[in-house]
Amino acid sequence: MLSVKGLVESHCLSSIPSKFVCPKTPEDSMLCESDINNIIPTIDFSHLISSNPNQTSKAIQQLGLACRDWGFFMLINHGVAETLRNEVVKGSQRFFDLTEEEKKEYAGRDLLDPIRCGTSFNPSVEKNLFWRDYLKLQVHPHFHAPTNPPGFSEIIEKYCEKSRGVVEVLLKGISRSLGLEENYIDEKMNLESGSQVFVVNYYPPCPKPELAMGLPAHTDHGLLTLLMQNQIGGLQVQHNGEWVPVNPPPNSYLVNTGDQMEVLSNGRYKSVVHRAVVNKKAVRISIGTAHGPSLDTCIHPASDLITHDYPPAYRAITYKDYMFLKQSNPLDTKSCLDLIR
Ligand code: SIN
Ligand code: FE2
Repeated sequence: MLSVKGLVESHCLSSIPSKFVCPKTPEDSMLCESDINNIIPTIDFSHLISSNPNQTSKAIQQLGLACRDWGFFMLINHGVAETLRNEVVKGSQRFFDLTEEEKKEYAGRDLLDPIRCGTSFNPSVEKNLFWRDYLKLQVHPHFHAPTNPPGFSEIIEKYCEKSRGVVEVLLKGISRSLGLEENYIDEKMNLESGSQVFVVNYYPPCPKPELAMGLPAHTDHGLLTLLMQNQIGGLQVQHNGEWVPVNPPPNSYLVNTGDQMEVLSNGRYKSVVHRAVVNKKAVRISIGTAHGPSLDTCIHPASDLITHDYPPAYRAITYKDYMFLKQSNPLDTKSCLDLIR
């Protein structure tokens, strides 16, 4: 199928094809009106690695509250160079600027194909299409990337290594915030052979943004996702039943917890529902690295978090089986976690 980028560039569109029109419910338009930048939690990464124990404990406490109350936070002072982040964004643009023919080579078919490039989300179970093209790469434990455009693969590899370093620190902090030993998540989730997926979302300008959706409401299936974007907003997270548009400070990361974090924490931390809306004016590129356990890890609530008051809220399942379960279910909010309760 033609990419959304190809569709936009080959037609002078004043509206959108009907298959891209997303049915909307009244809840879909419940937008948060408050001063959002004041309410979304911000975590200072430099405090998490500080040699001052008071600063670290405070940051861990804030991290725990952000995961509990939002499943989402903005991360500043993370130490990943702005130049590297910009190179990833530029490389991603160059990738999507390849011809349809060149990109077809990377189409992939199955959920576990290490390189997949395409459009929409999950056409076999979704009723309509989404205003988004994507590139998805398995980058850990084995690294895969397209050889075209030249140089892109090296940039991605370097970037993904840095983002794993950031996630390692965050997961230590999250372990401690749950009252667990700092390497608990790392060890139980086999992160040494853990899965890391690099995703570029490419949202071309849309002539009728109010009718379409870039990415519908969903949760991520792993533990933690680190997201950055090309200055153009569009991400919204669900909080207290409202959609909160996210306007991140420059050079920050947007971090969200995924389904495995909800399972591991036995429901204390929620996998946040989020979506991406599109706009009329500019291309939006968002780049995520999604971090999860190794595919054959059996995921279940941490035994240390099961108590009389908190009986196990989810049954055990391998991460791989969970991914297939999620793939075969429509993307409506939490349905997949409900299937393993
Ligand atoms: C995602 O949820 O994977 C991406 C959201 C975004 O484009 O901001
Ligand atoms: Fe997501």
